[in-house]
Amino acid sequence: MINMKYLSEENISNKRIILRCDFNVPVKNNEITDASRITKSFKTINYLLNNNNIIILLSHFGRVKNEEDKDKNSLKIVYEYLKQYYDLEFVDNPLNLDIINKSSKKIFLVENTRFTDVPVKRESANDLGLAKYWSNYADIFVVDAFGSMHRIHSSTAGLSKYLSTYLGFLVEEELTNLKPLLNHIDLVIMGGAKVDDKIKIIEGLLKKCNYLIITGGILNTFLKEMGYKVGNSLVASDEDVLNSVRKILKDNKDKILYSDKFIVKRGNDNLEVTLDDIENNDIIYDNLVDLNNVINDAKVIFLNGTCGMCEDDNYKKGTTKLLNMLANSGNDVYVGGGDTASFVKLFNLESNFKYISSGGGATLEYLSDGDLDALKYIKEN
Ligand code: 3PG
Repeated sequence: MINMKYLSEENISNKRIILRCDFNVPVKNNEITDASRITKSFKTINYLLNNNNIIILLSHFGRVKNEEDKDKNSLKIVYEYLKQYYDLEFVDNPLNLDIINKSSKKIFLVENTRFTDVPVKRESANDLGLAKYWSNYADIFVVDAFGSMHRIHSSTAGLSKYLSTYLGFLVEEELTNLKPLLNHIDLVIMGGAKVDDKIKIIEGLLKKCNYLIITGGILNTFLKEMGYKVGNSLVASDEDVLNSVRKILKDNKDKILYSDKFIVKRGNDNLEVTLDDIENNDIIYDNLVDLNNVINDAKVIFLNGTCGMCEDDNYKKGTTKLLNMLANSGNDVYVGGGDTASFVKLFNLESNFKYISSGGGATLEYLSDGDLDALKYIKEN
């Protein structure tokens, strides 16, 4: 962290600031279901406003690959939310910020930075022309988008080439709170849907934990490689991923744990079965993690990912059970990942957990590698 400047250490006033936030919040039926990523940015926004700065908020929202994705991923929903707290203006084109120079407002929210990825990738390719264009409207760049700092994009990294750069209060809070996990974690619990996304992270975390409990969709591939039946459940097919899974299993026999209780869909029925009872056409929908002793004995636990397809209300039994077990363990439980964090909030269990990170992939990369790509980029530039 040498040469990294924190906003908390400076007194910045009367400047034009580009503030990169992560407003990529979950939305269901046109409603934000968990606004904590937005509200967690308030500390930095308020500090900058109180010091008479002009703030230009940048963020991505969802994944944008074509024109259709643009319709689904406008930041207008976040603008409506922010309007309850701030007198701000919406800039509807991230490639034309001229309105900022003509307005008397102090705070602006620019439309989804990833809209610039269509038809040719700009934001996601860290197009420095784009970063330079945005930098014309500001004096200082403040990064507070912890959840996006595993991405080297124009708005998370590139801007640091053109503007004096500071890390905001949220990034500082995340780095400080997650630091105790950088060297050692007693128990990691990894769930979620696809093993492909997590295999490198699992390799990194295995180096620093005593035990790893695998659950959720990612468990299916491990079970299959161990020779169990997983029916028609989702499994990885990429040969590199499968080789990594095999190697992980071979090298970490005593570290990897899993529970053998599942909810499967068999025909039209949902049944609770054990591993040996899974049949050829079953689909594994939920894993009922049943490893109380390991959980109770681990002082420091990191949880990422859910135990099953819990976006479907019928299948959140496993995740509910696990969260309650963790909440009652009295141990230091750290939570990362948007879905997992939203569940903790849904069940009002926040106060039972040591820390709930606002990051998903970013938190995993930070814990597994001890750094974040955008941070490295900013340090080097
Ligand atoms: C997240 O939700 O993890 C961040 O906002 C990053 O989103 P991305 O995976 O689409 O880059």
